[in-house]
Amino acid sequence: MSNPDARPQLARRPRRVRASEAIRALVRETRLTPESLIYPLFVCEGHDVRRPIASMPGIYQLSVDEAVQEAMAARRLGISGVLLFGLPADKDEMGSKSSDPSGPVQTAVRAIKRGVPGLLVFTDVCLCEYTSHGHCGVLDGDHVVNDPTVTRLVETSLSHAEAGADFVAPSDMMDGRVGAIRDALDERGFGATGILSYSAKYCSGFYGPFRDAAGSTPSFGDRRTHQMDPANVLEALRVVQIDIEAGADAVMVKPAVPYLDVLQRVKETFGYPTAAYHVSGEYSMLKAAAERGWLDEDRVVLETLLGIRRAGADMIITYYALHAARLLA
Ligand code: PBG
Repeated sequence: MSNPDARPQLARRPRRVRASEAIRALVRETRLTPESLIYPLFVCEGHDVRRPIASMPGIYQLSVDEAVQEAMAARRLGISGVLLFGLPADKDEMGSKSSDPSGPVQTAVRAIKRGVPGLLVFTDVCLCEYTSHGHCGVLDGDHVVNDPTVTRLVETSLSHAEAGADFVAPSDMMDGRVGAIRDALDERGFGATGILSYSAKYCSGFYGPFRDAAGSTPSFGDRRTHQMDPANVLEALRVVQIDIEAGADAVMVKPAVPYLDVLQRVKETFGYPTAAYHVSGEYSMLKAAAERGWLDEDRVVLETLLGIRRAGADMIITYYALHAARLLA
């Protein structure tokens, strides 16, 4: 065996740039900062409510007053925004409560915009938390019908914009919703309200814990006729292009870690503001392994989020936002 430290390899010693923290910092290609994080919040009715979600330790259903406290904590840690989900008191076939001006999301938007200056407020726009059947839209028999659903999504987006949301984030995966929302916002004088589109949202098993948290598990069937087939990446590029042309200000790939190749292709192809959603199941599996002592949580959280940034995400939506921001402080 030849000595690995002997010539002629001396000319090539990649370890020189790993020798100290100072040189590692100088050659570091990707940075993870709290600024690139968005923290999702589940907002429910009531006051003083902070209800733990069993499958997502550390995450809670929060009444508006508690959501404001959580948003303040995020802001103090340098996190750029929150993404709001609503848990209405009652549901119906049409998901009527999604556009209620006094619903939990609309109320929380107003309270956070008033109480936490400088923090961006994104709102998830979908009907699944509001429909009695748990589907993302209006049903005709067993089928989620596209255009009547888009009408409801537009009404929902307008109610969020009226409350003061900075960006609406449609997560339903209906056709034509970005253009329809953009037109309606512009017509109603909300030209400054942006759209973060869940463009490449895959039909994923990793949303399981979220559906516990939001009570949005479909009562029958699944979401395969609107969410994307996990096998496809060229399709993701096509739908991202459609959303950009329709007026999306930023696009998203979701989930994150199993789809890092999609994220990289989207960022490289379009060079557009790109978000990745590190979803509930991705959070829960790290939590579960950490609770058993099988993984060093702090290390793997930062490594995971850095990996998502390296693949091309400008912004990461993650339930680990507060935890990561504390580690980065
Ligand atoms: C609403 C919505 C979902 C998620 C974000 N928006 C659930 C779904 O599509 O079933 C998932 C987020 C997560 O798992 O963290 N449609």
